[in-house]
Amino acid sequence: MPTIESNNIQSTTSEQKSPQTKNSVPIFEVKNLHLHYLTRFGEKIHAVSDVSFSMDQGEVLGIAGESGCGKSTLVNGCMGLFIPPLKPTSGDVLVSGESLMNREPDEVRRNVLGRKVAMIPQGAFNSLNPTRKIKDLAADMIESHENTKDKKEIYSRLRERFRIIGMDESILNSYPIQITAGMRQRSVIAISTLLNPKMVIADEPTSALDVTTQKSVIKMIFELLDKGVFSTMIFITHELPLLRHVAGRIAVMYAGEFVELGTTDQVIFDPRHPYTKALMGSMLSAEPGQRQRKPIAIEGAPPNLAKPIEGCRFADRCPVVKPECKKNKQVMRIVADRQVRCQYAS
Ligand SMILES: Nc1ncnc2c1ncn2[C@@H]1O[C@H](COP(=O)(O)OP(=O)(O)O)[C@@H](O)[C@H]1O
Ligand SMILES: [Mg+2]
Repeated sequence: MPTIESNNIQSTTSEQKSPQTKNSVPIFEVKNLHLHYLTRFGEKIHAVSDVSFSMDQGEVLGIAGESGCGKSTLVNGCMGLFIPPLKPTSGDVLVSGESLMNREPDEVRRNVLGRKVAMIPQGAFNSLNPTRKIKDLAADMIESHENTKDKKEIYSRLRERFRIIGMDESILNSYPIQITAGMRQRSVIAISTLLNPKMVIADEPTSALDVTTQKSVIKMIFELLDKGVFSTMIFITHELPLLRHVAGRIAVMYAGEFVELGTTDQVIFDPRHPYTKALMGSMLSAEPGQRQRKPIAIEGAPPNLAKPIEGCRFADRCPVVKPECKKNKQVMRIVADRQVRCQYAS
């Protein structure tokens, strides 16, 4: 299992790359999902387009892409949470074969969230009510899903969970403002996963933290995975190289679409989509032998998602663009054993 050493996060496990239940119903499936925001001015912003993937139990899928590419919108879709102005356009999301579409938000909150799919959000501060102690926030979470009001029993469960993950019990009696940012994020993770969800979606869980705290938070997430608190995870980040240490497979997202989906080694060390190549080239690398390499910025900006886009969404920024790319809509196809949304990739 992945462990974090003093200065190095070790690579992924073989279990992640060879999920256990190959021929059964996937634990999680997204089929041709399209999502849009309907603004006050009647404008439709097509934030997620044609996203499809499925996950087997035990897998960790990383999703990487620049800010604004639709990662958080996809997260809401993956939880069946369509709070206006977000609306599903078409497609399906299934947890163990059960669709999350066309359901009432309250019913989804009660029956799905926290229990089947739980989200670890980006900014712990925003998701913690500053006027309530950590133990009360955690108790609220349990009470909203179970018919128990027995505070003593709830607190003892909380203490046990904190003990398992090596967090000091005294944090339970603190207000969010009294603990460090890292502790707040770890508390949010502990609370989000209290109901032992089947699957966890972590939406940039470490992006607001310094590097050392990032490592301790990732370590905690993998401890929960190791201890079987949950078994399957989507880990979202804007830092593609970070996924090398956490994911078995990676999807790269650009302007609302997946543009490449393959194993971690394929996507990071042998990318085939021009955007994945550009993204890797734009990152600072701490790899041995790579110190001389200067990161190359990706010129230009992503397309306006409120306007119809005819051809490839990356065409305006692509270093190997061809005239047809601006006309032909790109679909996922198999290139070198992974999916790539580029007709010229080889
Ligand atoms: N409430 C909203 N109303 C309209 N557009 C939105 C809303 N939230 C996000 N968007 C747009 O949807 C796109 C994707 O945003 P988001 O999913 O937050 O991206 P990411 O998480 O990758 O940074 C962006 O163009 C963003 O401006
Ligand atoms: Mg986001």
